[in-house]
Amino acid sequence: MKNYPVLLLTLLLSAFFVSACSDHDSARTPAPPPPPPEPVFDPQATFRYDTFGDEALWTDVLRYHEVVATISPETALAVGLKVDAEALPPGILETADLTDPATTVALLELDAVVGINAEVAADGTVTSFGITCALCHSDVDDSVAPGIGVRQDGWAATDLDPGLILSLSPYFDDKPDQRAELQSWGPGKYDPYWNHDGISDPVVIAPAYGLRDVALETYTGEGPVSYWNAYVAVTQMGGQGTFVEPELNIEVHADPDLVTPKLPALLEYQHSLEAPVPPAGSYDPEAAERGRVLFTGKAGCEGCHSGPRFTDANTTLHEAHEVGADPLYATRTITKRYRTTPLRGLLQHPPYYHNGEFATLADVVEHYDLVMNLGLFDEEKSDLAEYLKSL
Ligand code: HEC
Ligand code: HEC
Repeated sequence: MKNYPVLLLTLLLSAFFVSACSDHDSARTPAPPPPPPEPVFDPQATFRYDTFGDEALWTDVLRYHEVVATISPETALAVGLKVDAEALPPGILETADLTDPATTVALLELDAVVGINAEVAADGTVTSFGITCALCHSDVDDSVAPGIGVRQDGWAATDLDPGLILSLSPYFDDKPDQRAELQSWGPGKYDPYWNHDGISDPVVIAPAYGLRDVALETYTGEGPVSYWNAYVAVTQMGGQGTFVEPELNIEVHADPDLVTPKLPALLEYQHSLEAPVPPAGSYDPEAAERGRVLFTGKAGCEGCHSGPRFTDANTTLHEAHEVGADPLYATRTITKRYRTTPLRGLLQHPPYYHNGEFATLADVVEHYDLVMNLGLFDEEKSDLAEYLKSL
């Protein structure tokens, strides 16, 4: 998303002067009208369906309304897009041709593609295309078919390939290097600084659940939920809002601001999303209990993964070397350090560490054993991994 044309429309502010009341008889002066009510935004709908006006990027610049009309549902599912079964009229899937792009357009018209909001004209032409938070932060339960089911808001979209999706835009036709970088990211990853600093170093898409009482969000603890939501909506999704961050040299203004007034609703919704409980049978409870004792004792994990959310982010951040993490991503951010990741729903969102360098929880434990010289026996390692699965 480098070098986007400036998307901002500078609107002239009109100043309104309320002329003074000519009637000086205060007894007869009517009470001033109450201020107009603050608009109320539905928290769930904002998270699921609001594009914040990012059609300015996805339609006007990336021309994604044209791209999507050529993509079959089969291909869309293959790049990790999901279909919301509850938005489908009964029986429609039995007859739908999943190899025909016209079916994609029909699904868009039904508002059934998770994280995408498109307008379709009467003749079947897609006239606008925008994305929502749900694109990267929702999954479906596959209850109808793989990729088709009931929404699971807040779940990390672990098989979505945002880089590949972006790269299909004709905007990159004359930018083969950028297109190749986007295509190198792979499923479940995205780089939210690439369009500013040009470094391609994607991170794992994080879940947006289980964040209540976690003071700082993102792998590097950039700020509270609303700070990051505004950052992403404005600087990544292309939403029409105001976001100013001198430390990253970002200053974007939009009038009207379609992001800022919705931040409280987004915050409320994200804080309502609890991490999924690991399904029965997904871990061995007795081994997990032994692992819990190690976690809080010999293995020393609780020193940083403390409290009900398993993080000390409310008080401190850590240098990359403390946990043997790749320092590059942190150097690109404001804090330059890593947040102790809150441990929640771990089974839902492999791989682990910000850059996904560990495929499994056993790999994470092995890593800690090495960098922290824990001297864990094999059985202790597997107990600790079982405990992590239970979180
Ligand atoms: C293109 C994919 C994408 C979209 C769209 C997106 N995000 Fe994210 N989100 C990410 C990635 C990648 C991260 C991890 C970045 C980091 O931690 O440095 C992330 C991190 C987060 C976090 C921090 C999670 C944590 O553990 O601290 C929150 C909260 C969040 N996103 C909410 C949102 C909201 C709300 C929206 C809509 C305004 C949104 N995201 C849109 C990809 C996306
Ligand atoms: C010095 C503080 C510290 C200690 C001690 C510590 N961690 Fe961490 N942990 C972190 C930080 C910081 C990260 C983020 C690293 C990254 O994303 O690159 C992290 C990430 C993780 C993750 C990955 C979570 C995810 O969603 O990607 C797991 C799992 C984890 N730690 C488990 C443990 C276990 C088990 C122990 C004990 C053996 C432990 N940690 C000890 C600070 C710590």
